Amino acid sequence: MLVNAKEMLQKALAGHYAVPQFNINNLEWTKSVLLACEEAKSPVILGVSMGAGKYMTGFKTVAAMVKAMDEELGITVPVALHLDHGTFEGGYDCIKAGFTSIMFDGSHYSIEENVEKTKELVKAAHEAGVSIEAEVGAIGGEEDGVVGMGECADPEECKRVADLGVDFLAAGIGNIHGIYPENWAGLSFDTLAAIKEKIGADLPLVLHGGSGIPEDQIKKAISLGVSKINVNTELQLVFAKATREYVEAGKDKQGKGYDPRKLLAPGAQAIIDECKAKIAVFGSANKA
Ligand code: 13P
Repeated sequence: MLVNAKEMLQKALAGHYAVPQFNINNLEWTKSVLLACEEAKSPVILGVSMGAGKYMTGFKTVAAMVKAMDEELGITVPVALHLDHGTFEGGYDCIKAGFTSIMFDGSHYSIEENVEKTKELVKAAHEAGVSIEAEVGAIGGEEDGVVGMGECADPEECKRVADLGVDFLAAGIGNIHGIYPENWAGLSFDTLAAIKEKIGADLPLVLHGGSGIPEDQIKKAISLGVSKINVNTELQLVFAKATREYVEAGKDKQGKGYDPRKLLAPGAQAIIDECKAKIAVFGSANKA
């Protein structure tokens, strides 16, 4: 069933685990993520970036596909359909299209403008029963052409945005999107603790750039109040690897191995396996 993400994240915060946000890119991705989470009995947030939404021909298409697939597959775990790093207009578009959750990423604006725009979207989202995530302190790395510097968020600014009534908050703590560089300094737990102290115990925090963070750092982040972890790149890497191996082994040339249902099957299975591995680390299995 499609639900907004507030309750599942409040439960995760209370239960000391994190709900995975797996980003989706197409039908195969969505199907694999849903099947993995159903099998593991894990709640899940399906993340859709502005670029992925455009790729899939628009948010209306995505919402219709996810709703129908959830039903046709008989999914019983809670599923939230969430806009990832949304623009201000994107937030409105997704509310209208039937998303159950949105993120407004105003981290590249001045804090005044971020506060002003977040406040307006919080009102619009809540009027529609949609949950909302805001961001303070840009996440490093590159996503859909947006390059962040990986700064640590200012706890005072986090408090200003938290007080607007957002349901969960993404705050930079040295995390970056994409593959972590060799010389990455790791997560700043001092920053995380300082943010938590300022915003209070009840607001779930979101960790972006979940691909490639060592397990001990993930677990420590969860113990300090992270309740949602976003994973995109690692699913892309395992999909690409499995597909490459299939083609390099010449399997697309054997029989009807070129049939997309066969060609894409190893990649789809690799996504299922990777989702299950993440769920095990995040502790969200059997929490649906
Ligand atoms: P990764 O691509 O590094 O896993 O980050 C995903 C993310 O944070 C989406 O918002």
